[in-house]
Amino acid sequence: MKSFIVRHCGPIRHSINVPGDKSISHRSAMFAALANGKSTITGFLESEDCLSTINAMRGLGARIEQTGAGTFLIEGCGGTFTAPAQDVDCGNSGTTMRLISGILAAQPFRSRLIGDASLSKRPMGRVINPLTEMGGRFSSEGGRPPLVIEGGELSSISYEMPVASAQVKSAILLAGLFAKGATSVIEPAACRDHTERMLQEFGVHLDLGEADADGRRRIALTGPQTLTARDFAVPGDISSAAFWLVAAAAKEGSDIVIESVGLNPTRTGIITVLQRMGAKIVISPRDGQHAEPLGNVRVVGGPLQGTVIGGSEIPNVIDELPVLAVAGALAQGTTIIRDAKELRVKETDRIAAVAENLRLMGAHVAETEDGMIIEGGHPLHRARLECFGDHRIAMAFAIAGLFAKGETIIENVECVATSYPTFGSTLESVLLS
Ligand code: S3P
Repeated sequence: MKSFIVRHCGPIRHSINVPGDKSISHRSAMFAALANGKSTITGFLESEDCLSTINAMRGLGARIEQTGAGTFLIEGCGGTFTAPAQDVDCGNSGTTMRLISGILAAQPFRSRLIGDASLSKRPMGRVINPLTEMGGRFSSEGGRPPLVIEGGELSSISYEMPVASAQVKSAILLAGLFAKGATSVIEPAACRDHTERMLQEFGVHLDLGEADADGRRRIALTGPQTLTARDFAVPGDISSAAFWLVAAAAKEGSDIVIESVGLNPTRTGIITVLQRMGAKIVISPRDGQHAEPLGNVRVVGGPLQGTVIGGSEIPNVIDELPVLAVAGALAQGTTIIRDAKELRVKETDRIAAVAENLRLMGAHVAETEDGMIIEGGHPLHRARLECFGDHRIAMAFAIAGLFAKGETIIENVECVATSYPTFGSTLESVLLS
């Protein structure tokens, strides 16, 4: 069993490259596999989660060849897959299971989607319900995996999402590609829009509504539509960069540059929140290819102040909240995270996990139903921590260890391979410098 052993370190002065964006990698593989023709994807994140999507697409008949590091040549099926010979194994990946559900609901065969112990506990009703309304036929273990899908003809719907979830939005839009007529999804607050940007890149026509004063927005497409193959470059993952952004922002004397990271405005909340906490961050946009903006991000370390993170900002920072809670513990004053109940149904209950680990390191934290209240400025000390099989908990607490007195051990960190397989080696280089 692997552990991270982390000790207090000095200022971080590095240029850091982060691997490809997880959300975009999943979609690039799915959309190329759905398209007519051959697409080359570069910068693909070769993590366990994204490889689950590659394997799933292969199992459904897409021809996929790896031609280099992070480079995949994908010959799509033109919208019609073949029945998988085996269960579709989504591993730890909620994105794989929820997005593929939208596609498989419309295919002319039966499929069964399975996942690991963590994914098997996660709620799937949020995609099963709207897809059932469209005519999809699902059976599940009380709304949890395994999912059995009897694919068939779908009809279009207009669906108002009860939670702002990019996975749910994407599943419905993907199903809508196969349904006759206009399918629309209303999101209660802006959540990551990679599906919209990338479907357009693959030749799909979407109607994107304007957000109203509360941030509600309608996204619609008229089916049936097919995708056209195209080459796609995946930018670096800002959710992986987040760990180093927090480490550098909170450590006096640090000066780091993260290169070629995705800067889609539905994902850059981490930068906004850190700036609000007093971090010095400079963004240099680079010429993006295709639909996803990217650039370099420079962070200079200094003292941070507490902040309130809540409301419509939450979907933009949902995956960064564990490491932002660590930033809160390192800041002066109080940090409040609220409206983030979704954290309870991630790879683990991230509110409970973060609160427990921060307390074990000496931080003052009160857990609330939908977030936490952190009294910053109490020095962190060594601890032996569990990461509860959750990659982002493992990495967030490796960052906390860089600020703690003594040696912090995070156990069973194999799970970081789901999103950031090279995190350990970057951590090593930070510790050695
Ligand atoms: C993702 C959407 C988010 C996020 C997840 C990836 C995506 O989940 O937390 O890591 O790629 O669409 P929700 O849709 O459940 O908010």
